[in-house]
Amino acid sequence: MSVILILTGAPGAGKGTQADLIAHRLGFKKFSTGDVLRKHIKMGTEIGKKAETIIVGGNLVPDDILFTIVKNELDLYKPDDKVLLDGYPRTVKQAYDLQSLSQNHPVKMVIQLDVNKQNLTERLSGRRVCSQCGKSFHIKFNPSNKGESCDVCGGLLEQRADDYPDKIAVRLSVYENETKPVIDFYKNQGVFTLIDGNGTTEQIYKRLESIIKTLY
Ligand code: AP5
Ligand code: MG
Repeated sequence: MSVILILTGAPGAGKGTQADLIAHRLGFKKFSTGDVLRKHIKMGTEIGKKAETIIVGGNLVPDDILFTIVKNELDLYKPDDKVLLDGYPRTVKQAYDLQSLSQNHPVKMVIQLDVNKQNLTERLSGRRVCSQCGKSFHIKFNPSNKGESCDVCGGLLEQRADDYPDKIAVRLSVYENETKPVIDFYKNQGVFTLIDGNGTTEQIYKRLESIIKTLY
């Protein structure tokens, strides 16, 4: 039975950044639905073709597509794996879909990274992502040692298509309307924790680590 930890929060809250640290330092298998969808787009799959304009517009990809992706991925994990979900569920329907798998994949903890709007906007507008390996940077808070190129693989850094101001506004409002209600779903199940997501990456990691370690 693989144990599931969910990291939720607004666009730019630092889910991906913290998920990478938790995976690396605490041995979780990280699974980001945003990353998987962007891979589909890059590879030109059927899912990628359906998802591309939706993602670029800042809206949510349909629940049934996400359920197929998540179910297939969870089926790959071994029973004693610790799984970290970044960016799923994002609608109440998705939370019910995930609950339908709870016999094999129970959700043990849901952590929301709570970040003020000014920080969210600053983090998103300054993010740059490697076009080759996908590593994430920030022009002010986490710049590449090689300027406009990735300091791991040398790939060109680019701005995500949904990280421009008009798209950021859409994503923040979709989060308020569609994703925030998911928090009540998990509060009612007694597995929800709110963490202050403002501050440095290491400060936030320490807060997360102390909560996550209560799981095992
Ligand atoms: P997704 O890729 O999940 O995007 P998101 O939720 O909008 O979140 P982000 O990845 O933008 O932010 P993050 O919280 O991971 O922050 P990060 O650590 O990168 O989804 C994209 C799209 O895919 C969705 O809009 C939707 O269309 C679709 N999708 C995905 N899942 C779906 C689902 N379940 N259902 C339907 N559709 C779905 O940090 C951001 C920046 O800030 C980086 O530059 C980073 O370096 C910097 N930073 C991080 N932490 C700090 C810090 N403490 N201080 C300063 N800077 C920091
Ligand atoms: Mg992310």
